[in-house]
Parts: sequence; C-alpha cells; structure tokens
Amino acid sequence: MDARPIILDGFQSSSIEQAVTSLKAGDVVAFPTETVYGLGAAALNSIGVAKIFEMKKRPHFDPLIVHIGQKEWLSSIARHVSPQAQALIDRFWPGPLTIILEKQPTIPDIVTAGLQTVAVRMPSHPVALNLINAFGSPIAAPSANPFGYVSATRATHVACLFHNKLALVLDGGPSTFGLESTIVAIRDHQVLVRRHGAVTIEELQGLVGEVHTETRDDPLDSPGQLPYHYAPHRPLAIIKTLDEATISASSLLLFQAPSRAPLSKYVRILSPSGDLREAATNFFSHLIELDREDVDVIYAEKMPEIGLGRAMMERLKKAASKTF
Ligand code: TXA
Ligand code: MG
Repeated sequence: MDARPIILDGFQSSSIEQAVTSLKAGDVVAFPTETVYGLGAAALNSIGVAKIFEMKKRPHFDPLIVHIGQKEWLSSIARHVSPQAQALIDRFWPGPLTIILEKQPTIPDIVTAGLQTVAVRMPSHPVALNLINAFGSPIAAPSANPFGYVSATRATHVACLFHNKLALVLDGGPSTFGLESTIVAIRDHQVLVRRHGAVTIEELQGLVGEVHTETRDDPLDSPGQLPYHYAPHRPLAIIKTLDEATISASSLLLFQAPSRAPLSKYVRILSPSGDLREAATNFFSHLIELDREDVDVIYAEKMPEIGLGRAMMERLKKAASKTF
C-alpha cells in the first residue's frame, strides 16, 4: 500500500458501510473509541487479526481486546460471568473498562495469544458502537499505534503512524478520555487491576470496595505488562521541578501552567488549571507532538498519582524506563 490512509467522517453512515465492507473482507480499519483509537479486525477472522499484529509489529504473545456492540453478545465470548464481573458490567458498560474472563472456544487463539482467558469491553463511543453493531460481530482491536509507542487519540495521528500500511481511518474526533481502558481480572472474588486507565481506582472502589493493584510477575497473567510500553522515540525523563529541565534542545510536557518561562524548545501544557481529566485528553497527542527529531530529551512534569493521574504516571514511568 503506497498511500496515506483515507480519513472518513465516522458519523456518516456511508463511512460505516465502507468500514464494514473492509471488515467483512478480512481487512483492518482504524476507528475511534472514547479511550484511544483502535485498529480493528473481525475478532472471529484469524487472518484479519493476524494483519493487526503485522501492522503493529506486535509480538504474538500479547493478546487483543475483543470489543462488543451489545451486552448480550458476551455469552458467546465468555464462558462464565461472575457476580463481581456482572456488577462491573452493569456499572461501567458501555465504557472504558475491560474485563478478563474465561473464553469460549469460538474465540481464535491468535486473539488471546493462546490464553484461556479473553479481554472484553463494550465501548461507549457512538462511532465505535455503530461500527460494531453494523458489522454485527465482535471486533478485536488494540490501540492504534506501532507496538510500544504512544497511543493515538486523533484520526490524523493514526494516519501518520500507519502511513502506507492502513487503508481507512474512521474519524470520530479527539478521544474523550485520551487514556486506554482500565483492565481488570477477577480472582477469588477479588478485583485485580491489570492496567490503570480511564476508569479510576477510586471509581472501582466506590463499587466493589477493595481492589488489588499489585502487578504480578507471571507473564501469562498480564502479558501486556511489558516494560517499554507507551514510549516516545526520544528519551523521556520525569521531572519534579522546572529546574531539572536543563537541556535546551528538549521538549517539555507540563502538567499545568508554569510559574516562569521554560527553557525547552517545545512546550505543551496538559491542563493550565491542573485538571487531571483535561490533562488525560491531551496526554498522548501532546506526547506525539513533542517527540521530534530535533530534540534530545522529553521532560515530563510529575503529576499527582490520584484518579487519572495514576494512569498517566504509570505510562510516563514505563516510557522513562526505556533504555537507549
Ligand atoms: O482502551 C483500550 O483498551 C484500547 C481501545 C482500542 O479499546 N485498546 C487497547 O488495546 O488499549 P491494547 O492491545 O493496546 O492493550 C490491551 C492490553 C494489552 O496489554 C494486552 O496484553 C492485555 O490488554 N490483554 C489482552 N487480553 C488479555 C488477557 N486475556 N489476559 C491478560 N491481559 C490481556
Ligand atoms: Mg496499546
């Protein structure tokens, strides 16, 4: 493919029809969700799903999330839904919560990387829901970024990241949350958070009481917990104060408005007033814009590790742990 992807207005029914035709042909389409953009293929079509892995250069041991259009579809995907899982579904679906459940045999091994579990969510973005329901069957989709890189939250960013590799991007505007879904598993009646994301720990606690957030060492238990996720190409350093941003050939990702003019060449402010929700909506798009060839380092200002700040800090820490 030797062209830029076509970006179509996802709110037009003709665009949805075109995307459905591609999915039926076993092709990959990018689509908006309320969290980040996804690269979707028919979940029951192993060949289509294989194309996602190839496009992202994603290792086959890293399973995908299955996206459904109706809660009723869940019984064809998961063997058993525990009372805890049902309570989470009732409260958070459609929305940015992914739940790991025991899989039905119909889900191809390539989707789950051979695991006996499957990650499922029902997104709330109208374009995502229209697409999945018009297709009439689940869509497997990872975030629309090359493996390990920052996720895309704008249609134009998806088109740039998959230049020459992707035919179609449905544009649904900037992602509302800007961070991936929160992933939970349920074990021994306890809710375990496998990835911090758009649903906060505080919101989960409000529903189920105690939740467990420790990450385990067992790679099969949380295959996505790879160290270098979410990393820009340039090295990233987390700073507590502006005094630490000493290199001028740098980019600076500020959490809130600075008290004095920064030295860095490129500066983005996540939320001038320090609002975590606003910061999250800008998080990945600012990081992509700051990841420029003419900078040596990206400085990222530390933010409070509460609510969505915890999810953003988790991603920044992973990016900062990348060795060059
Ligand atoms: O918000 C989101 O979740 C976005 C949108 C497009 O829905 N999707 C997304 O997918 O972030 P992805 O593939 O970038 O991240 C999914 C994570 C991966 O870390 C993967 O390892 C983990 O979910 N995962 C998928 N299936 C799993 C399973 N059965 N057990 C444990 N982890 C699983
Ligand atoms: Mg991802």
